Amino acid sequence: MDIKVEKSKPLKGIIEIPSDKSITHRAFMFSALTKGKCKITNFSKGADCMSTLKIIENLGCSTKYLNEKELIINAENALIAPNKKLDCGNSGTTTRLIMGILAGQNFNTELFGDESLSKRPMKRVITPLELMGAELIHNDYKLPIKITGKPLKGINYISPLASAQVKSCVLLAGLNADGATSFTEPYKSRNHTELMLEAMGADLTISDNKVIIKKSQLHPLETIVCGDISSAAFFMIAGLIVPDSEITLTNVGINETRSGIIDVLKSMNADIELLNERTISNEKIADIKVRYSKLKSTQIEGAIIPRLIDELPIIAVAATQAEGTTIIKDAQDLRNKEADRITAITTELNKLGANIQETSDGWIINGRSELTGDCEIECYHDHRIAMSAYIAGLICKKPIKINEFQWVNISFPEFLSLFNKITY
Ligand code: S3P
Repeated sequence: MDIKVEKSKPLKGIIEIPSDKSITHRAFMFSALTKGKCKITNFSKGADCMSTLKIIENLGCSTKYLNEKELIINAENALIAPNKKLDCGNSGTTTRLIMGILAGQNFNTELFGDESLSKRPMKRVITPLELMGAELIHNDYKLPIKITGKPLKGINYISPLASAQVKSCVLLAGLNADGATSFTEPYKSRNHTELMLEAMGADLTISDNKVIIKKSQLHPLETIVCGDISSAAFFMIAGLIVPDSEITLTNVGINETRSGIIDVLKSMNADIELLNERTISNEKIADIKVRYSKLKSTQIEGAIIPRLIDELPIIAVAATQAEGTTIIKDAQDLRNKEADRITAITTELNKLGANIQETSDGWIINGRSELTGDCEIECYHDHRIAMSAYIAGLICKKPIKINEFQWVNISFPEFLSLFNKITY
């Protein structure tokens, strides 16, 4: 699906942000380990989470939709050997987390994914799993991967990467391993796994950047999933850069390990307010009000990177509209996402008329640039590149065409319909 994006009038109104992808993946997968029934409300309907749901069904869970928003996962007969290869689609989170679950089972499985996922590095999870005794067959640490279920033993793993996917994989393997397993990372990555495992009764000890887990049986849990700050990010930036906009985004998860974007935008002089702060299913949430703002440049590096890793492409769009030079460093892992996001953003934003220079681990962005548009944009099979381009298109002088915009459906199928609610 190719779409045209035109210069926007001011954005006005209130929209509810759809479900968090990271939390939905975990709610689906961890439910499969409970041997009971779990209700999940407001789950993500994005293609990535549906890949996870299909896989747990293949592993013996049955699912029943109570209505559009509520789903019961029955894991009384799970986990069992699947009768087919497991399709992870485009989803790195599905692949890396499910490997931690499958490595210690008493049956064998095989995982595969789409073209983009098959190029992504899996060594980061294969290395710790092999140290735990896992038997994995792969070609150069990429999908497809064959997993021979084996009894696992606990390890003390010091991760070179701050990665919630690696952390979750190791903790899930540790849940079913003999002895304690510890995972230490250089900076704290998103902690949804720890919060949900604790609520399901896992034996966990958490201190700073280290988590220790011991073999535990999870108990069923009812989860209400909050809105995804990574989806809200596109609307936040839209509200900040489209002149005279004022929008409120409701039900947004503001977990400290995910809310780096709010800190960064405030440092850029953004008019952004958190309202009605509350906690649902152990996750902090708020409504976020943003108003058009005269942004200024900033520097983003170090410990904040894992707190906003998925938001960096859209932050780069904001930086093109900020007065001064914005420098983003320590984000080399952006090259290993659904696309090489450093190169993709540099190429596409420069086409639009931005002044952005690629570095090995981020960008140097000179603002403020008037974006001209009048060109065709590629999405690189990457939902976040597609949505970043869309938001940039709203302030281009001339319309742009975005090719293959359907990639948005990976995380945010509601994107265009929600957008229509705040444009007049
Ligand atoms: C995710 C963790 C992050 C993030 C991804 C989702 C998760 O990846 O980029 O979109 O749900 O655990 P890394 O942990 O590899 O940084």
